[in-house]
Amino acid sequence: MPVVRGKNIEPLFTAEQIAERNRSMASDIAAGPTKDLLVIAVLKGSFIFAADLIRALHDVGLEPEVEFITLSSYGTGTVSKGVRIVKDIDSAVKDRDVLLIDDILESGRTLLFAKELLYERGARNVTIAVLLDKSVKRQEKLEADYVGFECPDYFVVGYGMDVAYAFRELPFVGVVTGEAEG
Ligand code: IMP
Ligand code: MG
Repeated sequence: MPVVRGKNIEPLFTAEQIAERNRSMASDIAAGPTKDLLVIAVLKGSFIFAADLIRALHDVGLEPEVEFITLSSYGTGTVSKGVRIVKDIDSAVKDRDVLLIDDILESGRTLLFAKELLYERGARNVTIAVLLDKSVKRQEKLEADYVGFECPDYFVVGYGMDVAYAFRELPFVGVVTGEAEG
């Protein structure tokens, strides 16, 4: 098992599996709405997935504009949670097809907020691509249009995703299972 920063990391989805899913998702995306396509990566967790998926979109002939939005959730536990914009996109979305890219769809709050925001700004159509779907954790009525993998209810790291600012650089998705021996 890989040891990173003194921790055992059990791989859940390998770099090869992810690359294959990205190619397949890109073909599906190309078959959907792509008029004046604007791709928006939701930072920070999606940055590696977005970089790979965008290049896979190029390979199937798409020429998207690429933007970034940073969103943050606030409120904890039983307090009602909200989402706020930390850093907004610069581009206009009116009458454009928009593809939102995120790492994980969990409660659905983040992506529901983003989707509604873009429709309010006049997007023609908004679709969602996520690497991982933790569907058992869903709180909102929202599904992704393109899903890499159904994800078991573990806290995962790697391929852009962190725990306490660590492990984003791993080329695979894994689970921290404990301290390495010695
Ligand atoms: P939600 O769908 O609004 O609950 O937000 C999901 C977001 O929570 C994702 O975009 C991630 O940033 C973060 N997140 C959820 N589960 C994990 C995990 O297992 N590892 C790392 N980040 C996670
Ligand atoms: Mg996120």
